[in-house]
Amino acid sequence: MGAVRADDTEVAIVGAGPAGLVLSHLLAARGIDCVVLEQRSREYVEGRVRAGVLEHPTVELLRNLGVAERLDREGLAHRGIQLAVDGVRHHIDFVELTGHSITVYGQREVVRDLIAARLTAGGEIVFEAADVMPAAIETNRPVVRFRCGDEARAVRCRIVAGCDGSHGQCAGLVEPRTVAEHAYPFAWLGVLAEAAPTQDELIYAFHERGFALYSMRSASITRLYLQVAPDEQLGAWPDDRIWNELATRLPTGDGFTLNTGPIIDRGITAMHSSVTSPMRHGNLLLAGDAAHIVPATGAKGMNLAIADVSVMADVIEQALRHGRTERLGEYSPTCLPRVWRTQQFSHRMTTMLHRFGDDPFQRELQRAELARITSSVAAATDLAEHYVGLPFARLPEVVHQ
Ligand code: APR
Ligand code: PHB
Repeated sequence: MGAVRADDTEVAIVGAGPAGLVLSHLLAARGIDCVVLEQRSREYVEGRVRAGVLEHPTVELLRNLGVAERLDREGLAHRGIQLAVDGVRHHIDFVELTGHSITVYGQREVVRDLIAARLTAGGEIVFEAADVMPAAIETNRPVVRFRCGDEARAVRCRIVAGCDGSHGQCAGLVEPRTVAEHAYPFAWLGVLAEAAPTQDELIYAFHERGFALYSMRSASITRLYLQVAPDEQLGAWPDDRIWNELATRLPTGDGFTLNTGPIIDRGITAMHSSVTSPMRHGNLLLAGDAAHIVPATGAKGMNLAIADVSVMADVIEQALRHGRTERLGEYSPTCLPRVWRTQQFSHRMTTMLHRFGDDPFQRELQRAELARITSSVAAATDLAEHYVGLPFARLPEVVHQ
């Protein structure tokens, strides 16, 4: 192999998911130079079907960054959600309870908008970067080596942002680290269907046969999920079985109709929780799924990733623009309380709504909790505040020199 082509930047960002891409915009807005290194192709990253609910603080941040033009045009503002308990629907009105709404807009669309805006502004995103590996993260001159086709390359930087998702390499570089984990005894079968949604709110359904979720992406695309066994095979779910099961679990007898249509995407998502701490080692900072995974029930994965990088950008600015490198030590303690609060909410939504087995005691506890939420303003407000998004954590006030 020939000479290594080396470039310099201030921040090397590993991963072009929501965490890495939003960070690149936050840094650019602060005049901080960065390069994003992504192992997949642009087409692959832009094609991945993921979650689709944006918290209020996420939408505000994207607006402040000037990347919400299409989101504001095409995103679906929802004033609440519905909880269906044994076939009876209850409306939880977030706007009434918190003054805020949520926005349904696919993570895929967020990623597309962020990539387009970054490239238009002259930012650098290296797609199909293979064998990406940060080194010297304990020094003030880290380097990230990678390959582009046959070419060996390296980016020298001051900070490495590990935004490489749940299967990335960066979390493994945090030594020593603690990984707190929890596995759930079920998975989600998710489908995207060319079927017009028949209402403009999500339905979270608690049902004897297991959990189901009714969601959407646009005026013509419905997004649906079914609780299935953790080792479920897609082949066991022909289209008819999917639609029959959805029709059984969703409250279709209650003035709600389920439109069907061609299924254009399907997949099985494992449900588990994990938190890696600390979220920093030397000049490596972790964000998003690289540091923590939440079960999908609370729709928090992308939002939490964006909350992390809002703190990370401030810490990096302090270190690189104000010489306050010691403030890197505040990153993990500033993020983790909100990470754990979000874990707790996601765990609660998950345990409240899924079928865990045949234990009648557990089922009645779940019904009691759902009855409380659907009848008490205090209990509903607690759910609503978490769902629309708690305020992002902030670094304690800083004096700029
Ligand atoms: N080198 C370079 N890129 C990598 C590497 C690697 N070794 N490993 C993973 N990546 C890339 C992935 O291809 C992906 O594009 O890092 C990116 C991580 O993005 P996400 O998985 O989307 O993670 P994150 O940005 O933290 O977003 C949070 O919220 O809805 C949830 O899990 C969902 O993606 C979502 C997440
Ligand atoms: C989705 O639309 O993909 C979605 C919505 C709500 C969730 C999870 C996923 O809780």
